[in-house]
Amino acid sequence: MLKQRADKVLCSVLSRFHELDIKSGQGCYLYNYDDVAFLDFGSGIAVTSTGHCHPEVVEAVQEQVGTLIHPCIAVGNTEVVVDCAEKLVSLMQSDDYSVFFEQSGAGAVEAALKLAKFVTKRHQVLAFEGGFHGRSMGALSVTTSKKAYRDNIGPMLDGVSFFPYPNTYRSSHESITDISVTAYIEKLKQSGAIHSGLAAVIIEPILGEGGYVAAPIEFLQCVADLCKQHNVLLIIDEVQSGIGRTGSWFQFQKAGIFPDIVVMAKGLGSGMPIAACVGKTEIMNQWSKGSHGGTYGANPVTCAAASATIDIISKQLSAISALSDYASHVLEPLRLHPYIGDIRIEGLMIGIECVKDHSTKEPYSDMVADILKKCLDRQLIVLSCGVHSNVIRLAPPLIVTKEELTTGLQTLMEIINDYD
Ligand SMILES: Cc1ncc(COP(=O)(O)O)c(C=O)c1O
Repeated sequence: MLKQRADKVLCSVLSRFHELDIKSGQGCYLYNYDDVAFLDFGSGIAVTSTGHCHPEVVEAVQEQVGTLIHPCIAVGNTEVVVDCAEKLVSLMQSDDYSVFFEQSGAGAVEAALKLAKFVTKRHQVLAFEGGFHGRSMGALSVTTSKKAYRDNIGPMLDGVSFFPYPNTYRSSHESITDISVTAYIEKLKQSGAIHSGLAAVIIEPILGEGGYVAAPIEFLQCVADLCKQHNVLLIIDEVQSGIGRTGSWFQFQKAGIFPDIVVMAKGLGSGMPIAACVGKTEIMNQWSKGSHGGTYGANPVTCAAASATIDIISKQLSAISALSDYASHVLEPLRLHPYIGDIRIEGLMIGIECVKDHSTKEPYSDMVADILKKCLDRQLIVLSCGVHSNVIRLAPPLIVTKEELTTGLQTLMEIINDYD
């Protein structure tokens, strides 16, 4: 019913996973106007990590909305903003970072790219094939996860090159025949792709839109080493994987590295639009005053939501790995399914890759589209991702209970098992 009105007034450019009419949300559930509950394993694309309308987030936002909405950071500091920045720095496990707040992942990526160029006085950037960093022109220029994003809009940023993402399930480039971790590392070293003419290397530690593919830890370490050797800044894009989603505050921390710049968004604000470009302070301090900025960054209301989110996830972080192990155990039998090629799980970032044949690995995107619909018919919201749109993407709220996880996974498995 809302669809008809929406179609008249909302731009049709948006692609949609589903077209529900949504009245409200609470915890792991969205409700339609008939009060039917949908178990939401998409979390608004990995955003509502604390669930919908978590009471502590709601309270923090309501209190802040009644106190101060927007003084503008150009006019003065607000305690809630400084509190939030302090918390973010503490998550970095080093005091040597400072924060630039933004409203979207793309905005934070844009800031990171501009910072790297400004500080190094170079303009070249290396990114990875299949990566997604956002839709503004700078972020898009380092994005290749889908061709459609770049069609018909003319030249991208100058000086961007790409290296195949270290996908150990399927080759991410025809030039790559050996898909072992050591082969990707050797190829990276020998290719000279990371060289002293670059301003920055930007990488998602786990491809999000590109299919929930985690870069092997040794590969991330190698990228960090090469960047250091060549004096190139390393930008880690944790927009989708950050803020506890993988069972660590950030996925890069599993590699024991300290990136020059980290961008984060999505799970940070529990649905309030906030993002951050967090950089080593010695780098941030070289950005001359006024060369970057924005009207809405460092907004007290979104910072209040982010602060509350961090507090909630702090209490939940240790449970996420246990929930992840459990999900892995439940999904294990699917590995034998003729159309399931790979199952990838990092924390509560779960990708199930569908193929027509285990040996050819031909992507089975129609099956994924069909599964999304069948799940919705059974009041379960799941999403898709992948360069070939053949990966079922699960990003349940991080506060999901074992019972809710069981319900969702079992429903999904029943639907998948109908394909034999
Ligand atoms: C890894 C990554 N980077 C950047 C972005 C862009 O974020 P936004 O859509 O908030 O601009 C996304 C969004 O999906 C993402 O997954």
